[in-house]
Amino acid sequence: MSDRRAFFKKMGLLGLSGIATKLVSNEQLNALESLGKEAVQTNPFTLPALPYSYNALEPFIDEQTMTIHHTKHHQAYVNKLNETPSTNIDFQVDDMTKCKNIDQYSSSVIRNNLGGHVNHTLFWTLLKPNKETKANLPSGKLAEAINKEFKSFDEFKKLFSEKALKHFGSGWCWLIEQNGKLMITTTPNQDNPLMKVAEQQGKIVMALDVWEHAYYLKYQNKRADYIANWWNVANWQKAEELYISK
Ligand SMILES: [Fe+2]
Repeated sequence: MSDRRAFFKKMGLLGLSGIATKLVSNEQLNALESLGKEAVQTNPFTLPALPYSYNALEPFIDEQTMTIHHTKHHQAYVNKLNETPSTNIDFQVDDMTKCKNIDQYSSSVIRNNLGGHVNHTLFWTLLKPNKETKANLPSGKLAEAINKEFKSFDEFKKLFSEKALKHFGSGWCWLIEQNGKLMITTTPNQDNPLMKVAEQQGKIVMALDVWEHAYYLKYQNKRADYIANWWNVANWQKAEELYISK
């Protein structure tokens, strides 16, 4: 058993490791591993600090929403993980084929709370303050790939916005890479494209939280307005890092 595999087994996260081994970049695997290491060190999972202040994404995402989203919603996923004895996280399976039924094994603990922890940890890094007046656009290899796949950034933006808007209920909209191809997909609740239950699996490049808790205080029922404003604070530098990571 490799060190990494042994580590995940010890953490009760072997199923996640198995998924990650096939589908996740090393960077994302390292991020997941570091989430697990928190539990090795102190056995609580901990809330990561935001890389900017709560009001830094104003006026596009407001301070109150960011504060509550981070300190209440994300914290709640972390708390729930910590309240659950690791023996109850039924994820210690050596047989990777069982991970196809991750929802069956994970119950709400792994699927919802670890999913919520992983998704939000990634999401915070995929946002960045934008006080500039110039357009916020991807560059480099990611820009080339988007243009190749979707013909133009504007077309990609239209398709991603539509997909995020039409996703029914709580969930996430993702830009993922699968076998060299960029795809837009959504997942319900706190599922993500790293999970085998996801309709489309792949490496996460960009993420948008479309839970009402991500926008309701400022935008109420107008998810379309939240999405339209989110484009201003999407962190394309981080997305390109994820895209080119192996
Ligand atoms: Fe959220």
